[in-house]
Amino acid sequence: MRYVAGVMLALLLMARTAPAQTQVAATPPMGWNSWNHFECKVTAADVRGAADAIATNGMKDAGYLYVNIDDCWEGARDAQGRIQPNEKFGDMKALAGYVHGKGLKIGIYSSPGPKTCAGYEGTYGHEEQDARTYAEWGIDYLKYDWCSASRVYSSDKMPEVYEKMHRALLATGRPIVFSLCQYGLHRVWRWGAGVGGNLWRTTDDISDNYVQMSWIGFQQAGLESSVGPGHWNDPDMLEIGNGGMNHDEYVTHMTLWCLLAAPLLTGNDLTKVKPEDLAILLNKEAIAVDQDPKGVQAHRVSAEGPMEVWAKPLADGGFAVGLFNRGGAPNPVTVRLEDLGIHGSAAVRDLWQHKDLGSFRGEFTAQVPTHGAALIKVK
Ligand code: GLA
Repeated sequence: MRYVAGVMLALLLMARTAPAQTQVAATPPMGWNSWNHFECKVTAADVRGAADAIATNGMKDAGYLYVNIDDCWEGARDAQGRIQPNEKFGDMKALAGYVHGKGLKIGIYSSPGPKTCAGYEGTYGHEEQDARTYAEWGIDYLKYDWCSASRVYSSDKMPEVYEKMHRALLATGRPIVFSLCQYGLHRVWRWGAGVGGNLWRTTDDISDNYVQMSWIGFQQAGLESSVGPGHWNDPDMLEIGNGGMNHDEYVTHMTLWCLLAAPLLTGNDLTKVKPEDLAILLNKEAIAVDQDPKGVQAHRVSAEGPMEVWAKPLADGGFAVGLFNRGGAPNPVTVRLEDLGIHGSAAVRDLWQHKDLGSFRGEFTAQVPTHGAALIKVK
């Protein structure tokens, strides 16, 4: 009953328009996050290294702007209760200044509970104070991870706990992207936007292998109605470049995330990224699909055994279409144009080959390698 009341409250809140949300995340946030590669070993030097790389390797020009510190930056609170960074981070204001000096933005991480997932100091009881501290440091993005909040709140309190931090961030007057992380519990996609979330994780953590990545990515089917400018489903950060998947699998990862209008937060060591992995991250035609201003998440058009077709309507009236082969052998994958509402012929462009393929009537078929994907634009 209390859960129902919580959800009702959230639905009521959703009716409110939230201009701050579209101001900071009109399209899905793009950038880098320390967790997938560095985990708790992350230091300020790693964050500076990521900012240097993004500013010079083409990523900034491609739209990757946020340099996000995940868990393990936190130290103790001082006598006034103000959170301090630990010795690996030192001066957060200086770090934010460094990242801003590169024309980039900086993100941070906390938990509504007393401790973060890695056991560092959380925000519980210090919401307004922490929001003010982040704003003073110049923080532009907060990932707020449920973790130990389950020790102090019942789970039906999630909407109001997140709403509380949203209000604290708003009160600072600084535009700060608000990223909810509670692993998709209680169908967060139904209330995340209403409590001020710009994005919310829809699943448990990703890991750098095809099984987990594809399990997470393909289970976004059916969640598309929650998404729009300012508020996005977050199937977790990218693993491209971390070495656990092959080229075709990373192409599937990027293709699917772009079709899903997912946040594109790379999770690798950008100071050591291989050219072929960087090329995947820099595919501007794929990124344009992700960042399309219409802000629609792709839906699954068809599934036949291991072959799946997903389509994302675009602002210019065309469709981005993903042709996926989840099976263990190469396969032809076909999209029927009728399934997109196209009855005449349509022009097809390959967004990985960067090539116009001509005009097609009825259907289009691509040969797709094992665990691979084709990404086309149909118009
Ligand atoms: C949780 C989150 C991860 C990461 C870690 C940090 O597992 O889901 O994305 O932030 O906590 O401890």
